[in-house]
Amino acid sequence: MQIWAVGGGKGGTGKSLVSNGLGIRLAERGCQVILVDADYGGPNQHTYCGLRKPASTLAHFFDRRMPLEEIAMETHIEGLRLIPGNVNSANTDNFNTAQKQKLFRHIKQLRADHVILDLGAGTQYDVLDTFLLADVQVGVVAPDAMSIENFYLFLKNVQYRLLCNVLSWTGLKERAKSVWRDRAEHGISTSRDWIVHLRTLSPEFSEVLNREHARLQPHIVLNQVREYRQVEMGLAVESAVTKLFRIEATYAGHIRYDTDLWQQFGRELPAISHGTASTLHQDLERVTEAILDAKRRQEASL
Ligand SMILES: Nc1ncnc2c1ncn2[C@@H]1O[C@H](COP(=O)(O)OP(=O)(O)O)[C@@H](O)[C@H]1O
Ligand SMILES: [Mg+2]
Repeated sequence: MQIWAVGGGKGGTGKSLVSNGLGIRLAERGCQVILVDADYGGPNQHTYCGLRKPASTLAHFFDRRMPLEEIAMETHIEGLRLIPGNVNSANTDNFNTAQKQKLFRHIKQLRADHVILDLGAGTQYDVLDTFLLADVQVGVVAPDAMSIENFYLFLKNVQYRLLCNVLSWTGLKERAKSVWRDRAEHGISTSRDWIVHLRTLSPEFSEVLNREHARLQPHIVLNQVREYRQVEMGLAVESAVTKLFRIEATYAGHIRYDTDLWQQFGRELPAISHGTASTLHQDLERVTEAILDAKRRQEASL
């Protein structure tokens, strides 16, 4: 089973649209797919799926210990099931660490070929940890400066969170803090110097950090493209991310802005599945294919 996470920082860029589209495309290929509405504070996957008032949601997992498999509901698309977010209140927002770990453990045990996590906006730990859980990390950006800026900030936070996690796992957290406090003594002025120093303190830390860092390979999707010349922005983001964060990012392609999409909601039908000739249908197919190809290449090179 592969876990996908669709994130990117800014709200409104199309994370939910892309998660939904990936889910539909993978299901149409004959895979068993479960979409999880992991936008804990603002769930709307059920609306993309054209489903009204889900009977059970993630709140039932947290409050009533209902198994995720039971919450997963059929959608209008064969092979695609949905675990809706808590649509009634915001009490799945800011759950505690034990609850989060329990949710992650149960997500890993789901019976499906692909589990797709639709993330919320922002850089809260819950969002970052859910992104880090995934085998396939998808970053959605819109072709505008604010969205791209927020995506860089998102990745910076992901990278920092990953470092903190590795420090905890390897028991180096307190030591790392004290090194940073006395950084002048150690000749450390940047966070990069700090990490180099920490690596000399523990080969285990260094090894785990390398391993976890190598797993950070975001697939960039440029959504809401209105003009052809915007397409190149995806490549620019790919090369900036590779350079800035020293990670292997790949541009999975663009999705055009669909002027009819807004009319497809509230009809108890999947919103983005209208007309197989639609640009959304074609673009999502191309992007899904590109991500699967890149993933195969990454796995072959390991
Ligand atoms: N390619 C697109 N064409 C037309 N409308 C889009 C497109 N992508 C997103 N939208 C619309 O923009 C809004 C935000 O998209 P959404 O997927 O909810 O973003 P996010 O999950 O990142 O907050 C929604 O109303 C959605 O229907
Ligand atoms: Mg969303």
